[in-house]
Amino acid sequence: MLTDEAKRMRTTRNDRTSHERAGPVANLMNTQYSPGRAQAIAYANVALVKYWGKRDADLNLPDVGSISIALDALWTRTRMELDPALERDSFELDGQIEAHGSGRVTALLTRMRAIGGSEIRSRVFSQNNFPTGAGLASSASGFAALVTAADRAYGLGLSLSRLSELARIGSGSAARSIFGGYVEMHRGELPDGSDSVAVPLAAAADWPLAVVIAISERGRKSVGSTEGMQRTAQTSPFYSAWVNNQPDDLALARTAIATRDFDALAHVSEASALALHGLAMSARPGLLYFNATTMECLHRIRHLRGRGVAVFFTVDAGPQVKAICAPEAADTVAAALKDVPGVTEILRAGLGGGAVGMDDGQTWT
Ligand code: PMV
Repeated sequence: MLTDEAKRMRTTRNDRTSHERAGPVANLMNTQYSPGRAQAIAYANVALVKYWGKRDADLNLPDVGSISIALDALWTRTRMELDPALERDSFELDGQIEAHGSGRVTALLTRMRAIGGSEIRSRVFSQNNFPTGAGLASSASGFAALVTAADRAYGLGLSLSRLSELARIGSGSAARSIFGGYVEMHRGELPDGSDSVAVPLAAAADWPLAVVIAISERGRKSVGSTEGMQRTAQTSPFYSAWVNNQPDDLALARTAIATRDFDALAHVSEASALALHGLAMSARPGLLYFNATTMECLHRIRHLRGRGVAVFFTVDAGPQVKAICAPEAADTVAAALKDVPGVTEILRAGLGGGAVGMDDGQTWT
């Protein structure tokens, strides 16, 4: 028998919009479902108006909404095989059996199995083309790819909104990676989280910005975002001010995106990133995600903008700096950041599409 959640989740795919599936593998979207085996690709995203803080830790319900862009060059590909002989799910990441994070994978698959009324366990193989757990949103693309592949492997046919809701349970930012281009994640009000989902704001092609990422440390971050958020909410004297200010920043960013106003988007995005890190530093003990190279990169980006280059920065829960810029400024920005002592690698991206599922055996384009 289907649970209430299962009935709610088993809605039709009537909430797609034309630009939700844009992306390099969009031509595969019309393939037939074949329950049992499936694969999916999802892109990392970077928040311009940041999410930090949960109102419910179990369901990953955010205390604030957020706005992000999808990155076409940073992706997770996930393949799934259902096997009735398996006693438990197995999860391989980049060719290695993953202990870190496998509990969250199993919990999510258990929830999705309940929706479909299946008890069959699966083998999950995931591959990231970028460093895992280093503040580059690997959990976002990872959980978006997982729910998209599982939806197909278990033959659920869930709506994109429901997939966003499920991805959120894996990782808050993953809810946004179901969609491409510019995406808003709603805080939501309901205790069951059904309105804490992402929605697309604009397609990548509507305003094709570029992103240059300066990597200065490839290891996993010292304090994960879940623990960092919890500590901040419990100990920072400024947490309620952060939560109360968020609707204003979301409105500014929404308008900037709708009107393609680069300067307005630059101001609100930098303000949100700096507010997040100021807030995190005000936790007790304070969270320090920046290293010296991070700080130097931020100064370089401000300096470039002062010289008229269309660029602004954002930083997540790690030291890497993401410079968002006009496509014609990307070479200048990449050269300036490469020159910063301590920058070991530069990644470049355009804006990406939404998560795409396809049958096993098909090849990626
Ligand atoms: O969803 P999580 O747990 O990876 O948290 C994401 C937090 C930030 O990356 C710092 C901000 C954001 O909105 O992505």
